[in-house]
Amino acid sequence: MIDVASLTKTYASPGGPVTVLRDLSLRVAAGESVAIVGPSGSGKTTLLNLLGALDQPSSGSIAIGGVPLAGLDPAAAARFRNRSIGFIFQLHYLLPQCTVLENVLVPRLAGGWEESAADTRARAESLLEQVGLRDRLAHLPWQLSGGEQLRVAIARALINRPKLILADEPTGSLDPATGERIAELLLRTHAGADAALVVVTHNPGLARRMQRTYRLEAGRLLA
Ligand SMILES: Nc1ncnc2c1ncn2[C@@H]1O[C@H](COP(=O)(O)OP(=O)(O)O)[C@@H](O)[C@H]1O
Ligand SMILES: [Mg+2]
Repeated sequence: MIDVASLTKTYASPGGPVTVLRDLSLRVAAGESVAIVGPSGSGKTTLLNLLGALDQPSSGSIAIGGVPLAGLDPAAAARFRNRSIGFIFQLHYLLPQCTVLENVLVPRLAGGWEESAADTRARAESLLEQVGLRDRLAHLPWQLSGGEQLRVAIARALINRPKLILADEPTGSLDPATGERIAELLLRTHAGADAALVVVTHNPGLARRMQRTYRLEAGRLLA
């Protein structure tokens, strides 16, 4: 599902170029779960952004589900992201003027789906039920707790049935009990959807529950 070879990412910065990822390689099979741990600033978010086609590498190659990302122009990259990847960001980026249900439906706006609007809506409601928000459909994001906002973001990441879920520190700002529930939920949904899951986390409990854990250090992934 993921095939990364010799990936390097260098940012230009006022103090000169900064190389964050250095000759990094990674393979993740379909349906597999992987945790990435590492200190703050080690490049975890950079790596997820590259895997999610949100940014381009300086060198090296990334293929997702056999599709080389380098071959996609911006419009194709956007379509690919929308169809194939469920991204759970560190900041959830819920639309403040939209309800919980509408936020989950945002990734469907691109259109061109086979499914009827009624079926999509029913599925959005079912996802929200799975994340424990069945009775919050009409709430606005500011009326939710941080953990509830995260759960909306998880449901939104799953609405297009992605084959790859990328989650950036999903339990970072949560109390341990809520973090545990989110860990359960991520594992259950990824298994149910038969999607590969890559989770960046500082939470050792969450990392342990993934099939493999890598540590990002000096720009490389160590097993
Ligand atoms: N757009 C950018 N321009 C320049 N430097 C960046 C940019 N994004 C991240 N960096 C730098 O790259 C390093 C890795 O950042 P990041 O991937 O966010 O780390 P992590 O998620 O592991 O905390 C940091 O030192 C950060 O300052
Ligand atoms: Mg980060």
